[in-house]
Amino acid sequence: MEPVVEACEKTEDAGRLPVIEVKNLYKIYRVGETKVYALNGVDFTMYKGEFCAIVGTSGSGKSTLLNMLAGLEKPTRGEIVIAGQHIEKLTENQLVSFRRKRVGFIFQSYNLLGTMNAVENVALPLSFQGIPKKKRLAKAGKYLALVGLEKLARHMPNQMSGGQQQRVGIARALAVHPQIIFADEPTGNLDSHTTMDVLRLMQTIVREHNQTLVMVTHDNHLATYADRIFHIIDGKIVKIEDNRRRAGRDAEECADPAENPVSRRKDAAGGSPVESTDGEEVR
Ligand SMILES: Nc1ncnc2c1ncn2[C@@H]1O[C@H](COP(=O)(O)OP(=O)(O)OP(=O)(O)O)[C@@H](O)[C@H]1O
Ligand SMILES: [Mg+2]
Repeated sequence: MEPVVEACEKTEDAGRLPVIEVKNLYKIYRVGETKVYALNGVDFTMYKGEFCAIVGTSGSGKSTLLNMLAGLEKPTRGEIVIAGQHIEKLTENQLVSFRRKRVGFIFQSYNLLGTMNAVENVALPLSFQGIPKKKRLAKAGKYLALVGLEKLARHMPNQMSGGQQQRVGIARALAVHPQIIFADEPTGNLDSHTTMDVLRLMQTIVREHNQTLVMVTHDNHLATYADRIFHIIDGKIVKIEDNRRRAGRDAEECADPAENPVSRRKDAAGGSPVESTDGEEVR
């Protein structure tokens, strides 16, 4: 049976462009005699221009789900359709090409190459697209400026703070113009102040470029920055919260603009996050 929230999304989201469609997805690991259901029947759709957070406790299946969506691991069964393409049917070589063309990654541990400076790190994925060196360094420089690091272009990773390295990681993910950006605990190694800076930066850039951002986190508070929050427990999506729907409805109800959660939500991009959301049980 289809989850309740998906059924109503179909009407509400009519006209929006699905970018990620997941149907009846399972990932089952065998450990000795036992089976681990890391993903236990997952269904959802994510749309163009959306910032989605996947939230759950340790071991709930967040990274497994992200790895499947990004084509890094094969599902045991089920379908993953990215921009109309069934990625579970692709060969390894086709998956490599899919990832290079369509997907950007932001990692918790930054994953910068220690032997390259900031601008070279950002330029690296562009080399896979066959862009000549001069052009890719110029483009990388532009993206470093976008994340506020133009002055640190020649710095090596070990000559930058954690937050600066993460911003290089964001620039690197964005430079290839991916349709989708996957971020696994992107602020896991940052202090709370830098976390907010990095989160707002990702939110702003993705909105401006109408990309889809999928962020995994165990932190409910960080997830409130997202348009929708997908709660995962034991390999199942148990609830999808829609922050936009809540913001829109409250906006209609509030006559006083000072009380208007839409403006509060705008503040959220530059200050405190959305305070409340509504949710619907899907199972
Ligand atoms: N290669 C594997 N072999 C066996 N079990 C695995 C494997 N990878 C993950 N699991 C199991 O699948 C479940 C989900 O793991 P996953 O890494 O997706 O969790 P997570 O939500 O990302 O956790 P965390 O917040 O700690 O990163 C866990 O029970 C984990 O032990
Ligand atoms: Mg994980």
